[in-house]
Amino acid sequence: QSKNLFPYNIVLAGFMGTGKSTVGRDLSQKLEMRYVDTDAMIEERMGMTIKKIFKEYGEAYFRKLEEELVAEVSHLKNTIIFCGGGVVLKGQNVSNLKLNGRVILLQAEPENIYQRIKQDDTRPVLKDQMSLEGIENLLKQRNKAYSESADMVIQTDDKTVDEISTEIITKL
Ligand code: S3P
Repeated sequence: QSKNLFPYNIVLAGFMGTGKSTVGRDLSQKLEMRYVDTDAMIEERMGMTIKKIFKEYGEAYFRKLEEELVAEVSHLKNTIIFCGGGVVLKGQNVSNLKLNGRVILLQAEPENIYQRIKQDDTRPVLKDQMSLEGIENLLKQRNKAYSESADMVIQTDDKTVDEISTEIITKL
């Protein structure tokens, strides 16, 4: 049973390691809203990990699956949607997500992102550039797309998940 406080979708966007899925699950509990995790749905439907999809079929194919799924979940209502870090790179994804939703951009300092994801080899985009410089470069390439997509920007450095969710709820 949803409290139905927000008659629109809450879309969490942002770079890898900014806490989209952790914050998304916490928001889902606090607001009693369902969530969809597009990366997890892609993995489930394909029966393979994102890393494997990149390896077997290439990034362009993953982006196509992602775009189709974003178009599909954008029709939902009253849902928390969290997407992979590259979703805002396609304008079509952003306009679809905004049809029924507000885009919340989670931001973090490159150093914190690096600390959070450096041990993780499940992220194929950074596989050869898993370094502070690699993260800074990719952030530079993507920053414009991230900020243009955002209805709200939340800084996550030095905050707990609970503080981040509460801040989002207060500002919505
Ligand atoms: C990607 C981020 C990943 C995943 C894929 C590509 C990206 O999601 O969608 O590996 O291009 O930034 P997370 O942001 O949840 O790590």
